[in-house]
Order: sequence, then C-alpha cells, then structure tokens
Amino acid sequence: MTNLREIFREADTSPFGDVNVAQSLAMLYHENSKFDRFSQRKLGDKINAFYSPYLTKRSSQPYKCYPNAPRIDLSPYKDLAPEGANYFDLLANRSSTRSYDPRYKISIPELAVLLQQSYGVTRKQKIETEGVDGHVGFRQIPSPGGLYPLEIYVVNLRSQCEPGLYHFRPDTCELEFLKPGDHTEQLRKMIYAEPYINLPESGLVVLTTGIIERMAIKYGERGYRFMLHESGFVAMTMSLIAESLGLGSCMVGGYKDDQINEFLGVDGVFETVQNVLIIGKKQPCPLP
Ligand SMILES: Cc1cc2nc3c(=O)[nH]c(=O)nc-3n(C[C@H](O)[C@H](O)[C@H](O)COP(=O)(O)O)c2cc1C
Repeated sequence: MTNLREIFREADTSPFGDVNVAQSLAMLYHENSKFDRFSQRKLGDKINAFYSPYLTKRSSQPYKCYPNAPRIDLSPYKDLAPEGANYFDLLANRSSTRSYDPRYKISIPELAVLLQQSYGVTRKQKIETEGVDGHVGFRQIPSPGGLYPLEIYVVNLRSQCEPGLYHFRPDTCELEFLKPGDHTEQLRKMIYAEPYINLPESGLVVLTTGIIERMAIKYGERGYRFMLHESGFVAMTMSLIAESLGLGSCMVGGYKDDQINEFLGVDGVFETVQNVLIIGKKQPCPLP
C-alpha cells in the first residue's frame, strides 16, 4: 500500500507557504491526535480510568465561580423563547452583521436567552458512579463526555446592565460582575474588527475561553480538537439565538490572544481565549 505520509513529506508545500508539510504544526498535531488501533488502546485505558469516583466527581461541576463578584440574576428570563422563530428561517437569514444600531440597548431578557440557551445548564442528571454524590448539568449543545471545557465572558457595551466585563455562571444563570467600565477602547486595540465590523457600536462582545485540562483529562491530545468543536457549537448556537431575537452577530478570528487573556484575568495556557463573537442590533439599511 502506498505510504501517504511519505508522499506528503515529498509533496509540493505551496499551500503552507514556506512551512514544509512535515513541519506544519497543524498537521503534526492532527497526525498525533488521530485515533488508530495503537492510540485507541492507550486512550481506552485513560478513558476507563476516568470513571474513578475522584475524577467523576471533579468533572461534575465544570465551571468557574467568582464568589466575591456582585451578581445579576438572569434566571427569571432564562426560559423565554422568542415567538414565531422558525429554525430554517433563522438559518437562511443568518449572515455576519457588521454594522450595529448604537441607539439600541440589549435587554436583560435577551442576555438571559442568549447565554442560557447556548451554554447554560438546562438539564441535570444524577451521577450513577458508586461513592459519588453529584449531578452532571447538561447544556443545549453536545460536549464530549459532558465535560464542558468552555467559560463564557461577556463585555457589555450597550445593554441594560452596567457596562463592563462579566462572567456567565451556567448553573445558576447569573452574570458575575468582574470589571466595571466602558472597555470599548481596550477592545478596539485587542480585536481586529474595524473597519469591516463596527465593534464600537455593537451591544456585546462575547469572549469564550477554553480550559484544555477538562478535556485532556479524559481524551488526551485529541481533547483539544473536541474543545475547538465545542467553541464552534456555542458560537453558532449563539448566532442563531441572536438572529431569533432580531439581533445580528459576527465572529472575529483576528485578535491578540494574550492581551485578551490578560484582560480576562486568565493565564493564557491552561485557560485561553477561543472565540470572539460580536453581537448587536442590526443597523437598519440606509434609505437609497
Ligand atoms: C472563525 C471565524 C472567524 C472570522 N473572523 C472574521 C474577522 O476577523 N473579520 C471579519 O470581518 N469577519 C470574520 N468572520 C466572518 C466571515 O468573514 C463570514 O462568516 C464569511 O464571510 C461568510 O459570511 P456570512 O457569515 O455572512 O455567511 C469570521 C468567521 C469565522 C467562522
């Protein structure tokens, strides 16, 4: 059988610029996180070990808490569903919104629905492992092993909440207030949004971080792939919810990772920014 790896080592590397295919970190990582009969055996042991009471309990509450932060309770609004939203219409109508109406303030019920329906705990199930007294809190999106590696931070620019940085508590549907103030200018320096996306006139900037250990503890290197999948699920779900609320959103891939990590107060290694999603009221089209 032809050895594809050998062929690729010799192959034209032009799509990778001056990086040889064999040197590409992306391909190297992908090769090393593939399932095959050898890695499967090794990973199988890791996955089996995971069902120890200690690890099961430890992973049953996969979210951060800021116990001293002032809180805003969003839970009274968490189950509100926008009326008349049709899934296929939402899919058809979603497109990246780059221009926002600066007069609009995102309401507290809108914030609650955006956060709760994308990454809030919506269903609890008792852990059956002997010796463990706990629950797994499931969310609307799928997560490998129910390990939920992500944390959601929200920078409120224009909403009914005070401007500032908040952390979302998925178990109680609360916002924990971390850093008051108008952070627009700081965000503009860290996120390459303009001139294509009008960040300063948007309502919210959602910053998703990932805690790789929550995945690696069970899935090893392959867990990193899973964490990236999950940040995509959350971003897409939030974009569709925004659409259902008459809001618009745009993902941003260009941002200064470590400046955002510092702004969030996370270390950038064990917990690191994964996604930037801008949300706001769609700017009405100018009259012709
Ligand atoms: C991971 C990701 C990163 C993106 N980064 C940017 C960005 O930095 N700047 C920007 O203007 N658009 C960005 N976009 C939006 C894409 O340009 C947009 O989704 C694409 O042009 C398709 O258009 P649509 O979303 O309107 O269907 C990003 C989209 C994704 C999924």
